[in-house]
Amino acid sequence: MLVLGIETSCDETGVAIVESGTHILANQVASQIPLHERFGGVVPEIASRAHLRVITPMLRAALEKAGCSLGQIDIIAVTVGPGLVGSLLVGISFAKALAYVTGKPLVPVHHLEGHIYANIVAGASLRFPFVALVASGGHTDLIECRGPLQYRILGRTRDDAAGEAFDKVAKLLNLDYPGGPAIERIAAHGNPRAFDFPRPMLSEPGFDFSFSGLKTAVLYCQAELKERSDFVELVPDVAASFQAAVADVLAEKARRAVRETGVSNLALGGGVIANRCIRETIVSKAGCDVFVPPPELCLDNGAMTASVGYYRHRSGYYADKTLNAEPNLRLSSSLWKELKHE
Ligand code: KG4
Ligand code: ZN
Repeated sequence: MLVLGIETSCDETGVAIVESGTHILANQVASQIPLHERFGGVVPEIASRAHLRVITPMLRAALEKAGCSLGQIDIIAVTVGPGLVGSLLVGISFAKALAYVTGKPLVPVHHLEGHIYANIVAGASLRFPFVALVASGGHTDLIECRGPLQYRILGRTRDDAAGEAFDKVAKLLNLDYPGGPAIERIAAHGNPRAFDFPRPMLSEPGFDFSFSGLKTAVLYCQAELKERSDFVELVPDVAASFQAAVADVLAEKARRAVRETGVSNLALGGGVIANRCIRETIVSKAGCDVFVPPPELCLDNGAMTASVGYYRHRSGYYADKTLNAEPNLRLSSSLWKELKHE
């Protein structure tokens, strides 16, 4: 069964073709980094226009790569939220039009569920129940996954997402955009114990996160250091110490979530998990089997969307022509129940 997955929730246009939820035939991703770079963040209007420009050629490229025609696609899966409304609308309108002309079912996908299923499309033998940690530019969520569509949010960030903190700290340190990969690159030359940054929320019970205080600690540190003549040489140490603080917090909260829910598997996902230090810290502390997608599947892509679409279709979940963008969609939203195919 061939599933077309369309992902346009933020600044990456993803179009993929996946067979039976696990076998990737094509996974085209068009990044908009060069367009947003000079603004130091994603500009929503630019993002939606860029999706619109590339989505049709990307579908053609995906079909060519997969060696199939549009008529051979069985299901069309699309991310409906959460995300930027204009960006989501491009993917949803495109998917609806394709479903209309081909007569194939349209399946709505939650973006966070996509990040979790990146593990499944990567070939992991991940079985329910498990705990998922999704850390991206917009989310830092710990989720108890009891079965398909049975999700319970254990904790989430109260302010900045982990990826957002990486992006803001990179800006403070005059590093490239996006900040995550830039910090990871420069941190490789630094000492993670050089600065003792706070590990927010670790002394509190529960599974919520907070990264804005950590970002402020880096701001104060940078303000103090920037007058020094050797400031540039200290940047790798600041970056490495910040990265280590984020890694410790994510690893410790994930470890506690696994212990308290009594599951034996932890699944990771989201752009921040592309970071090697973060992945390795979580794996070393988790005390259970940890599933980690390869870096390219941690970042936004259409293959993860297609994989969720396949499993949702198996549970009989479809959307009709009234499907709309849901910028604040929750995993536990009643939308899924309303969409159940009778
Ligand atoms: O999952 P994603 O592609 O998009 C969202 O759903 O937000 O994640 C993007 C975020 C950005 O904040 C980016 O800086 C961060 O993930 N990121 C990283 C790395 N690569 C991307 N953060 C830390 N280390 C990385 N190597
Ligand atoms: Zn994402």
